[in-house]
Amino acid sequence: MALSELAKKVRQGRLTYLSEQKFARLEATLRAVIAARTEGAIAEFGVALGGSAIVLASQALAAGRSFHGFDVFGMIPPPASEKDSPKSKERFEIIQSGKSSGIGPDKYYGYIENLYDRVCQSFSEFGIEVGQKGIHLHKGLFQDVVPDVDMKSLCFVHIDCDFYDAVKYALSSSWPLLSVGGCVMFDDYHTHGGCKAAVDEYFVGRDDYVFGDGANFKVMKRQPA
Ligand SMILES: C[S@@+](CC[C@H](N)C(=O)[O-])C[C@H]1O[C@@H](n2cnc3c(N)ncnc32)[C@H](O)[C@@H]1O
Repeated sequence: MALSELAKKVRQGRLTYLSEQKFARLEATLRAVIAARTEGAIAEFGVALGGSAIVLASQALAAGRSFHGFDVFGMIPPPASEKDSPKSKERFEIIQSGKSSGIGPDKYYGYIENLYDRVCQSFSEFGIEVGQKGIHLHKGLFQDVVPDVDMKSLCFVHIDCDFYDAVKYALSSSWPLLSVGGCVMFDDYHTHGGCKAAVDEYFVGRDDYVFGDGANFKVMKRQPA
């Protein structure tokens, strides 16, 4: 799986935490979903500096789909569940103490004032205007903003928000909108225990999914048996 030129530029610009491997898998999976003409918009929960969102939005524009990016665009909410791992809680303590480092020499994104404006600017530098042609960035806690957004149906969802409560909310609000043949991809299934717990719990007793393991875990929607 080769990375697109756009994804390479986004990584060079230090706008994403995605590894080359995860980014390539994300792009290839979305391309396959679009090629299969799966209906619906593209969404991302966890935009941060906008790196993966720029690539998703670009594919959305090319395919005539809408893109919805959701983020608080500020300090990440804490891992408040007992299902979050000690490692996630330690990571949050470092962030909260103000000592988290960013990508390379950059400031950690959660300490940047006006992160939303910065991300819109980054989109613009890649030729994508937020608020035009179905490209949307929604600022606020997921649970505060998602209920007011009419996404109708979804073909692809990227869930990259680290902790149990956030992943649980993102998944439970998007899976019912996902078309058959669509896919949800999780950045943190193998790195944050709370993400894995939220995903595993959600699919217990369901018969409308197929798991696809890999660097970034994915779940495809299928017709129930
Ligand atoms: C790991 S970063 C996203 C990385 C990004 N996709 C990239 O390409 O590097 C996780 C983001 O999720 C956001 N987030 C986590 N929980 C949230 C919640 N409950 N509501 C809104 N944003 C949330 C954080 O603020 C943070 O910006």
